[in-house]
Amino acid sequence: MADYDVIVIGGGPGGYVCAIRCAQLGLKTACVEGRDSLGGTCLNVGCIPSKALLHATHQLHEAEHNFAKMGLKGKSPSVDWKQMLTYKQEVIDGNTKGIEFLFKKNKIDWLKGWGSIPEAGKVKVGEDVHNAKSIVIATGSEPSSLPGIEIDEKTVVTSTGALSLNKIPKSMVVIGAGVIGLEMGSVYARLGADVTVVEYLDAITPGMDGEVSKNFQKILSKQGLKFVMGAAVQGVDVKNSKATVNYQLRKDESNASIEAETVLVATGRKPYTDGLGLEGVGVEMLPRGQVKTDAHWQTSAKGIYAIGDAVTGPMLAHKAEDEGMAVAEVIAGKHGHVNYEVIPSVIYTTPEVASVGQTEEALKQDGRAYKVGKFSFMGNGRAKAVFQSDGFVKLIADKETDRILGCHIIGPGAGDLIHEICVAMEFGASAQDVALTCHAHPTFSEAVREAALACGDGAIHA
Ligand code: NAI
Repeated sequence: MADYDVIVIGGGPGGYVCAIRCAQLGLKTACVEGRDSLGGTCLNVGCIPSKALLHATHQLHEAEHNFAKMGLKGKSPSVDWKQMLTYKQEVIDGNTKGIEFLFKKNKIDWLKGWGSIPEAGKVKVGEDVHNAKSIVIATGSEPSSLPGIEIDEKTVVTSTGALSLNKIPKSMVVIGAGVIGLEMGSVYARLGADVTVVEYLDAITPGMDGEVSKNFQKILSKQGLKFVMGAAVQGVDVKNSKATVNYQLRKDESNASIEAETVLVATGRKPYTDGLGLEGVGVEMLPRGQVKTDAHWQTSAKGIYAIGDAVTGPMLAHKAEDEGMAVAEVIAGKHGHVNYEVIPSVIYTTPEVASVGQTEEALKQDGRAYKVGKFSFMGNGRAKAVFQSDGFVKLIADKETDRILGCHIIGPGAGDLIHEICVAMEFGASAQDVALTCHAHPTFSEAVREAALACGDGAIHA
């Protein structure tokens, strides 16, 4: 038993970042984590391992499709799946050990085990009960499945199982054309699996700019992914390690099915707050399972805060990190703030897809006058040189004031390019501000500047 200023429950991106910032602000801090390694879903079974597999399989794609064009002759590499998984694990270990080092450096105690809150100001881990002036719930989320589907993490898997399959399946059905489905679907399609994505809606990646979404689906189809759109999956039957996915087409209510060796269920995630004992300490929940908080991330119980996937908002590691830092500032008596208007989102396929701010669809609905500047990567010299001229940058600005309202990019390095616009938006910049900023040549970022120029007198290379 020990006394702390702050105990953070959960060692994912929200929790560990919060713990580090608390310690930096002079608070005696502990972080409770029940996994064998720190870093939560993101580092262990999410963002980081999926990026390792996306990187490895992108290299394979380059070898198979582009090497010969550049005069690099020879047999394409064959896939050693066991070694690819070892590489993925080494990437995970390197990152999670890094967080352990940061905890030591900042004198944060890692309380190993699953935490609960027996009463206000106390956190129980195993048999030990610790005192804490403030408690931060950063317990994240877990995959949410559908009724009629039993996950066994072998034949019918969530993103967790999809990152560690025993072998590369010949066929895979992905349920849900969201971020996870498309990233992991891309990985297995590049590894030779016959991948079919079954999606309830008529467009992939719900909430994304419509033009980007259409273009993205076209590009993924060219890469070999098949799509069944407007189809509500109603169940999965597994017999002799073969799965049959049953669905109903929304347009005519006809039923159909599709067989696959592996089924990935990627229909969203839900907050994970099991076993915390929140009810007992008066923490109110929202109808969809999130912890209810006020504008300073405090729950309905004084001294208990909540952040990240466990509360409302997009389930993104960087949103959780920002909330982690901000709540630490609040607890330390400072002014923590998160600008929810400027949270980028990225899909790490090839090409990458990134967006921030408003979509055209949302602006139309609000009746706001806007203008669009668009620039295709076909006009970008660097993109052409690396066979990545598919895609475009779309910048949206206020029609009267020219203030940037949003940006949507599909193309090379989109996940990095978007941050120029994030900074611009934080400073309330106009499209002209970006257009007047010198951009190095030849870089992909010139496409962002050209889109900004297109909001004014016109792009140069269009
Ligand atoms: P998602 O919410 O992005 O997509 C789920 C898809 O499943 C939707 O398109 C939905 O219409 C579809 N769906 C739902 N029920 C269905 C049914 N019965 N039949 C057919 N389709 C159905 O969820 P996803 O991809 O599982 O990701 C979960 C969370 O993790 C998201 O909040 C996402 O933002 C986050 N994430 C973010 C990543 C990134 O930023 N790169 C990477 C991975 C996850």
